[in-house]
Amino acid sequence: MERLPSAALLLLSLVAASLVAFPLEASKVYIVYLGSSPQSMHSNLVSASHHQMLASVLDSLDAAKESMVYSYTRSFNGFAARISPDHAAALSGMPEVISVFPNKKNILHTTRSWQFLGLEDTNGDVPEWSLWQKANFGQDVIIGSLDTGVWPESQSYSDNNFTQIPEKWNGTCVSGTAFNSSNCNRKLIGARFYIDAYEAENGPLNETATGEFRSPRDAEGHGTHTSSTAGGEFVVGANALGFANGTAKGGAPYSRIAIYKVCWPGGCYDADILAALDDGIQDGVNIFTLSLGGSPPLPPLYQDGIAIGAFHAVQQGITVICSAGNAGPSSGSVTNVAPWIITVAASSIDRDFTSYAILGNYAAYEGESLSEYKLKNRFYPLVSGGDIKAASADYSDSLNCVIGSLDPAKAKGKIVACKRGVTGRVSKGEAVLLAGGAGMILANTPDDGEETIADPHVLPATHVGARNAGAIFAYLNSSSSRQAKLTSSTTVLDVKPAPVMAAFSSQGPNTLIPDLLKPDITAPGLNILAAYTGATSPTGISSDKRVVKFNIISGTSMSCPHVAGISALLKGLHPDWSPAAIKSAILTTASLYDNEEQPIYSGDLTTAGPFNYGAGHINPNAAADPGLLYDATPEDYVLFLCSLNYTSSSIAVLTGTNFTCPQTPPTVTNFNYPSVAISALNGSLTVTRTVTNVGSNSSSYEVYVRAPTGISVEVQPSKLDFIKDGEKQSFQITFTALNQTSGYKFGYFIWNDGTHLVKSSIVVQTVDISTVTTAQGHSAY
Ligand SMILES: *[C@@H]1O[C@H](CO)[C@@H](O)[C@H](O)[C@H]1NC(C)=O
Ligand SMILES: *[C@@H]1O[C@H](CO)[C@@H](O)[C@H](O)[C@H]1NC(C)=O
Ligand SMILES: *[C@@H]1O[C@H](CO)[C@@H](O)[C@H](O)[C@H]1NC(C)=O
Ligand SMILES: *[C@@H]1O[C@H](CO)[C@@H](O)[C@H](O)[C@H]1NC(C)=O
Ligand SMILES: *[C@@H]1O[C@H](CO)[C@@H](O)[C@H](O)[C@H]1NC(C)=O
Ligand SMILES: *[C@@H]1O[C@H](CO)[C@@H](O)[C@H](O)[C@H]1NC(C)=O
Ligand SMILES: *[C@@H]1O[C@H](CO)[C@@H](O)[C@H](O)[C@H]1NC(C)=O
Ligand SMILES: *[C@@H]1O[C@H](CO)[C@@H](O)[C@H](O)[C@H]1NC(C)=O
Ligand SMILES: *[C@@H]1O[C@H](CO)[C@@H](O)[C@H](O)[C@H]1NC(C)=O
Ligand SMILES: *[C@@H]1O[C@H](CO)[C@@H](O)[C@H](O)[C@H]1NC(C)=O
Ligand SMILES: *[C@@H]1O[C@H](CO)[C@@H](O)[C@H](O)[C@H]1NC(C)=O
Repeated sequence: MERLPSAALLLLSLVAASLVAFPLEASKVYIVYLGSSPQSMHSNLVSASHHQMLASVLDSLDAAKESMVYSYTRSFNGFAARISPDHAAALSGMPEVISVFPNKKNILHTTRSWQFLGLEDTNGDVPEWSLWQKANFGQDVIIGSLDTGVWPESQSYSDNNFTQIPEKWNGTCVSGTAFNSSNCNRKLIGARFYIDAYEAENGPLNETATGEFRSPRDAEGHGTHTSSTAGGEFVVGANALGFANGTAKGGAPYSRIAIYKVCWPGGCYDADILAALDDGIQDGVNIFTLSLGGSPPLPPLYQDGIAIGAFHAVQQGITVICSAGNAGPSSGSVTNVAPWIITVAASSIDRDFTSYAILGNYAAYEGESLSEYKLKNRFYPLVSGGDIKAASADYSDSLNCVIGSLDPAKAKGKIVACKRGVTGRVSKGEAVLLAGGAGMILANTPDDGEETIADPHVLPATHVGARNAGAIFAYLNSSSSRQAKLTSSTTVLDVKPAPVMAAFSSQGPNTLIPDLLKPDITAPGLNILAAYTGATSPTGISSDKRVVKFNIISGTSMSCPHVAGISALLKGLHPDWSPAAIKSAILTTASLYDNEEQPIYSGDLTTAGPFNYGAGHINPNAAADPGLLYDATPEDYVLFLCSLNYTSSSIAVLTGTNFTCPQTPPTVTNFNYPSVAISALNGSLTVTRTVTNVGSNSSSYEVYVRAPTGISVEVQPSKLDFIKDGEKQSFQITFTALNQTSGYKFGYFIWNDGTHLVKSSIVVQTVDISTVTTAQGHSAY
């Protein structure tokens, strides 16, 4: 799971447990993709043809029925089956089969954030210029969440003030363990679950051992948190363990929510995700939100279940938003990079949960925590995890406070400083508590920078940034008294600077398609309050018996549904906009500045750039009225695949239709994206873009360019006059290398008509240089 490493570890160990009960076989699940949906055939006949096809290689209809995991018959054509690699190869040789690929596993990658985004004012009132007013809070837009399910009793899904379910809704509420159709209502209008591929890979789900529900019910909390962030109803007096008290709400509080549970302990499989999208597209979902993904090396788009399913959704006019991943600050770590997806990075808001570590020399170091546990107001002995190493333990493990690596005799009653990394953040607190420690200082390494995360630790604790961590370890080295106290945590508002990029947020460049900038945008993903499951504690640690209605968690999993909620508002306001138009409006209006009017910082407090945030920080009110749009049709996306030099058969894989690429396909750099990325500029290159005038019959734009260092940027024409709403005009941008750049250089261009600023990020790298970028290690922990 992308956001809570401790839970991820716990979940992984549970999967390992269930694997033991399941004999390992050479067979695994393969997805057999047959293209677009055969509209003229009844779905039973299509399923029967899948069984026949599989029977022809397995030599038995019974064996075929037994190995069949899914038949996709609604929005596209194909099936998933548990078969051997030989049988998969045999199927891939059949003429009607477009492709066969293994079932990839993905991981899951109050609320103040909406006020921070300007949808409400500081009194919590919603001014008339707010996108909330304009779009009537996303009324009747349907958001489909592919995640760990839902805790339907949460007030975020209350349908108190909701009218009847929109007639276009075609979905359903599926029963299962502790869940039936009575759990759906006029707000939570659909709930389904997809477990067949998971079980085909891991053996039957043991509900007792895992605490999971074989139903849409959420045992983990992640799905409840993300779907309520996107579309949760107003809940007054929401708080997590008393912190961040206020009115919780999603981005589109009057939208309807449909749940597609595809994630189970240990992961979310492509074949289950495809089954959910196959249904969800027919159900009438308007916006899909997926806080999950794989990690580099990224498969080609035609072997990526999320990319394929999202393509079919976008073809039907459904916007798809995905998280960028939590593998930052490593360069090239961004995932979900298809051009038809909105890929979301994560950044902070202007709220902290501050707790100080005060050392024996009375130096105070600010940190963050959501721990409700308090120490007495006196000094406690301070040690590092390494200082109290258990005899059998590795020094580095004890410095990282891995469970079992600390000596209880030496830990008792002390505050223990633990380095971040290797194990989950809350798990370090559990390790110190188990060893009898009194409190914990969780200390960033330089790679983690100044990013601190408020976790509901199981003991008094504070999490400090790299600078404070350095000072605290220096004190530990130099002082003989070595003692500290921890103040209890308080909610602090109007924190500056904000937003700051999260260090864990996955970064560009796009390793699959270097000439397409990813991520696209950043949105709040640090310390976000939203609804939670009643089945698990806020830490996910099994000895933690607390239950919360709301929890505060962090990840690109949390920023993704912010963009989904805003996309729902834009869909409500502009029902005729394509997914590309919605994306363009969000990207071209994004901000590059923080609340001190400074360029947005990265986690280590150096200036961030497009590889951190794409277009910048989301600005929903401006997105309502972007002035110009960089639009794209489904056919443009197919042409894009020609640009990637994909063969007709691999394009057929993705689109499900035959398509003949033009003799000279457009280049990737000419795809009408609202940003420009050039990964290997050799001399000079001219790219074309086309903008559509929206919202006024007469407008006149002039371009402003901020060229990347060492690159000249010429825009022709530099002035665009429109006389009609909907009018399109093209322009050319010529990039010329003045100097060989060392690595990527960044800039932007803006079309300005005096009212609208339509901004596009530029990233350029010249050829002939070593493009080695240093990986800085994993910091999601
Ligand atoms: C429902 O509407 C009533 C009256 O307009 C209002 O007082 C109440 O807060 C609303 N409830 C919710 C959950 O929005
Ligand atoms: C759903 O389950 C609840 C609790 O067991 C029960 O009261 C209710 O009648 C069930 N509803 C349906 C439609 O089966
Ligand atoms: C499921 O797990 C429980 C508890 O760990 C165990 O007692 C039971 O035997 C398991 N059931 C199956 C079918 O493996
Ligand atoms: C949260 O705020 C509400 C209303 O402002 C108040 O009634 C309630 O006591 C507060 N709860 C906590 C835990 O602070
Ligand atoms: C609803 O589902 C039915 C049956 O699968 C399908 O024929 C129909 O096209 C769907 N309607 C919409 C609006 O997708
Ligand atoms: C503290 O001492 C250890 C062991 O000598 C050393 O590795 C570390 O770099 C020192 N830390 C600081 C912040 O001085
Ligand atoms: C596609 O092939 C053309 C011609 O060989 C080449 O110039 C271009 O760089 C290729 N594009 C990609 C994305 O590989
Ligand atoms: C694609 O074209 C091939 C060869 O022309 C044909 O056999 C096949 O049926 C077509 N497939 C689709 C999905 O139209
Ligand atoms: C750059 O362009 C020149 C002239 O066309 C060519 O000779 C050279 O090989 C190119 N360099 C690279 C790295 O593609
Ligand atoms: C543009 O002009 C047409 C025709 O006069 C009018 O119907 C339309 O509302 C105008 N659009 C805008 C955005 O002003
Ligand atoms: C090229 O780089 C050098 C040194 O980095 C700099 O002095 C010079 O001004 C640059 N030339 C141009 C045209 O930007």
